Amino acid sequence: MLRQLRAAGLEDWFRVRYFNAHVDISSSGVHPYRLHEVRALTGLTFEEMDRLPFRDSPSDGQERLRRALADRFKPGQGHSPFVGNGSTEAILLAVSALVGPGDEVVVTTASYHSLSSLAESVGAKLVWWDLDLTGGQADLDQLRSLVGPRTRAVIVNFPHNPTGVTLTAGEYRELLSIVDHHGAYLLWDAAFAELVYDDAPLPDPSASIERCVSFGTLSKAYGLPGLRVGWCIAPSSLFADLARMRDCVTLNTSPLLEEIASRVVENADAVLRPRLEQARANRAVVIRWLEDNRDIVAGVVPRGGVTFFPQIIGVPDTRPLCEFLADERGVLTVPGDCFGRPDRIRLGFGGLADELGTGLDVLASVVRQWISGRRQRVVA
Ligand SMILES: Cc1ncc(COP(=O)(O)O)c(C=O)c1O
Repeated sequence: MLRQLRAAGLEDWFRVRYFNAHVDISSSGVHPYRLHEVRALTGLTFEEMDRLPFRDSPSDGQERLRRALADRFKPGQGHSPFVGNGSTEAILLAVSALVGPGDEVVVTTASYHSLSSLAESVGAKLVWWDLDLTGGQADLDQLRSLVGPRTRAVIVNFPHNPTGVTLTAGEYRELLSIVDHHGAYLLWDAAFAELVYDDAPLPDPSASIERCVSFGTLSKAYGLPGLRVGWCIAPSSLFADLARMRDCVTLNTSPLLEEIASRVVENADAVLRPRLEQARANRAVVIRWLEDNRDIVAGVVPRGGVTFFPQIIGVPDTRPLCEFLADERGVLTVPGDCFGRPDRIRLGFGGLADELGTGLDVLASVVRQWISGRRQRVVA
């Protein structure tokens, strides 16, 4: 598996630049919480933390956390939560358990790296489902033409990172029925499920179909990326296979992190609300920015999540631009090539309002200079 694993361009980019950025308009999550804020929002006390024994946790996660997740996400019959060190671990475990050499796997493009590269690394044949980047909609007719008797799994993420595309309730039901009709597994990455602006979050697919695994995380909507707690909701019959892989990777999650995570999930609405409100206000800024800068950026309004993926008009490869922004102006963005689209740029609007405003202003002014500089060089 490891020898075939493609490098994760996004992580390579962040490894070098994330920790030096002054202004971050790159991230896919909301502004991270501090521990004291989490304690205030959830009622967790230091005394409770002090009493915690650092024993190993069960392979599928601490009971209280699993119960809180089940109460919130309401798995269907025969499905339940399995906790991981971030949803990254849960994705690894599920793909390893379900996908093998020669399997056909339908994945969206642009794609978050582990949703495609893990399946590829075990020898699956990837079949790409192009999300329509200009129209901002998922083309379900195209999906229907890609899924067939040889499809082992369909791996999708809605609301989608990086484009912000998501599904209506009707489109969601259609997607489930396309996948289910062919007996394929749906691997449903719901990292941004609760970061939606116009409609209610889409329900866990296990409420409707049997052959599915969904992924969730506290890293995005909950503002706790460094806590490293995620999960999958999977058929209980798969748990032994998930644990088999976990036994060779991490064994379990820290009981301290699981204790904090339990409180967060039990108080989910209180934790989500402030950051969702901030994201909603920031999204209005993004909509205005896209309109005001139509001469240099073309992109659709993100319908969910806190990322968008516009084209920079006249810049076929945004990497040198992103390097300049980060290294010379301290503004962190993500080059589109990290998602296989060099003509795009991944921008995040989940952070602080001031930071977003400053970052977007600097980006627009640098792009104008960049384009006119190129024109001058071409004329000269
Ligand atoms: C679509 C998607 N899924 C999963 C993850 C992994 O998140 P974590 O491992 O922090 O739960 C990310 C992180 O950026 C993501 O964008």
